[in-house]
Amino acid sequence: MSQALVIRGGTVVNADREQRADVLCVDGRIVAVGEDAAAQAPAGAQVLDASGQYVLPGGIDPHTHMQLPFMGTVTMDDFFTGTAAALAGGTTSIIDFVIPDPQEPLMDAYRKWRGWAEKSAADYSFHVAITWWSEQVRADMGTLVQEEGVNSFKHFMAYKNAIMCDDETLVNSFKRALELGAMPTVHAENGELVYLLQQEVAKMGITGPEGHPLSRPPMVEAEAANRAIAIADVLGVPIYVVHVSCMESADAIARARARGQRVYGEVLAGHLLVDDSVYRDPDFAKAAAYVMSPPFRPKGHQEALWRGLQSGQLHTTATDHCTFCAAQKAMGKENFAKIPNGTGGVEERMAALWDGGVNTGRLTPSEFVAITSANCAKLFNIYPRKGFIGEGADADLVLWDPQGTKTFSAKTQFSKGDFNIFEGRTVRGIPSHTISQGRVVFANGDLRAEQGKGRYIKRPAFGANFQAVQKRAQDLAPTAVAR
Ligand code: URP
Ligand code: ZN
Ligand code: ZN
Ligand code: ZN
Repeated sequence: MSQALVIRGGTVVNADREQRADVLCVDGRIVAVGEDAAAQAPAGAQVLDASGQYVLPGGIDPHTHMQLPFMGTVTMDDFFTGTAAALAGGTTSIIDFVIPDPQEPLMDAYRKWRGWAEKSAADYSFHVAITWWSEQVRADMGTLVQEEGVNSFKHFMAYKNAIMCDDETLVNSFKRALELGAMPTVHAENGELVYLLQQEVAKMGITGPEGHPLSRPPMVEAEAANRAIAIADVLGVPIYVVHVSCMESADAIARARARGQRVYGEVLAGHLLVDDSVYRDPDFAKAAAYVMSPPFRPKGHQEALWRGLQSGQLHTTATDHCTFCAAQKAMGKENFAKIPNGTGGVEERMAALWDGGVNTGRLTPSEFVAITSANCAKLFNIYPRKGFIGEGADADLVLWDPQGTKTFSAKTQFSKGDFNIFEGRTVRGIPSHTISQGRVVFANGDLRAEQGKGRYIKRPAFGANFQAVQKRAQDLAPTAVAR
């Protein structure tokens, strides 16, 4: 028995245009989009009325950490609760991270994370972090790309004495990623400077969460972003900078792009909407709840990030969803450097960005689709299967009610965290229905996420970026002088 769903009367939005159209989904795929799509539906098809609503590609969050063991504890949301919360917010796919311990074989870590993720309710994929270097790591990168559909590798330039990469590892790994047609990505913060500043700040008698941003100022991020971009330039490999939080880092990306380099930037919903005043809250639990890296920035940086998205210098939006509860955050009660780093947002990202982006005229609905799904799908080479509403694409969709409102709160969220960084913010423009693999999984507040329904999504290597950089390298290849 095939399963059919018709979405009638909505405005379908893709990254390139909006159109009034019906959408027919059969067995998890979109089979028709157009004025006559409903007429092709088999008898007994489920019908959703989307009049007055937009129909958007399901969001893709390219940066989450479900069930992450980190800084001596494990995040509250696992792959089920985290992806269920994502579906409630209109996000139908996540790209999470496999993070091997230094010296841990990549394939062991990868298999461990694949096991944890089997309970996902939404589709998922993995970036794999390179936290150390050896010939075995080089070989395993090949296996991951060629057999497991991993086409991106993450490098933490911070978290000294834990998962931080030195330049030797960055250079070796970027070079190997280029050979394999996989995108290197970086968490750009100079870990040596963070380590030093944490101690200097503590010496000043500042031990609370207000010390966190003091130990990680914008220039610490900009130095690492510039360094990673320079290494990528020398090697001729594209590069993707995760969670760009400040204007200095956004400027580094814009300058490199103006030089013709293939550099891409990701922005978090939190960095666009929250500023660093939160760290001065007199209540430790509240201030600590916002401790994440890079930290929230002084007023002014948020507008620069919006401009980066508007101008096309920044490309994707994510959340870095990584939730710790108050008891976990209290591990750093005497020392801010021990507060587990991370905040939530996977459930709020789409609505927070619509409200801050589309309602303010910063973004059109099509530009919203670009930054919440299509650009990510293109960069990580799963477009047009994901991030697109058209024949053949996965039936991952959101019915978006532009007049619906919601007030974010930890009390009403599906995410397992006990805090909401957008607490009390009322937004206009919310998902009324989320459809994953052709199934309605969220309807007007009713979450019907099913454990284990999510699929692992393989991402092929050598996306369009790599064909371009290869051509460029051939054209510009130096030659010896014939004597
Ligand atoms: O504070 C954060 N962002 N925690 C998660 C790990 C990371 O750096 O992305
Ligand atoms: Zn990070
Ligand atoms: Zn992260
Ligand atoms: Zn707890």
